[in-house]
Amino acid sequence: MRKKLLLSLSVFLVLFSLAACGNGDDEVEDTPDDELREFTLEELSEYDGEDGADAYVAVDGYVYDMTDSAQWTEGSHQGQVQAGQDLTEEIDNNDRHGREMLDRVPRIGILVESSDEENSDNDDDNGGY
Ligand code: HEM
Repeated sequence: MRKKLLLSLSVFLVLFSLAACGNGDDEVEDTPDDELREFTLEELSEYDGEDGADAYVAVDGYVYDMTDSAQWTEGSHQGQVQAGQDLTEEIDNNDRHGREMLDRVPRIGILVESSDEENSDNDDDNGGY
């Protein structure tokens, strides 16, 4: 009797831990906003996925990492769009899917204003004056 109880308990524990480990869907965890790296459009353009570069894409001011997605080989997606850009309009106008697909890839950064403005406020290249 005691043996049976112990056996059922172990089976329960194994099943419970299996259920707790797998999350059962394709969603990835997002980095909290205050830990996200900042990208200007110029910086983003370096991550077009070509020639071994990582493949990053911006949508709605956030930057997503497509590098490990089989759907974004060499930064090219369905032969229609290329990484390294802000593709907010393209995802709006795409009839295959909406923003729910972005849950499958890591959100790694935020898009910020171009560095021109930053430089005029915070110019390190002014000879110390
Ligand atoms: C321009 C026309 C586009 C077409 C025809 C297209 C088509 C597709 C298709 C067929 C899939 C696979 C769906 C599945 O596995 O169920 C997919 C996945 C995906 N698409 Fe698009 N898409 C387009 C634009 C975009 C844009 C603009 C973005 C982002 C800015 C995007 C982001 C994604 C992501 C993140 C995935 C999931 C990738 C993965 O699971 O690894 N797509 N797309």
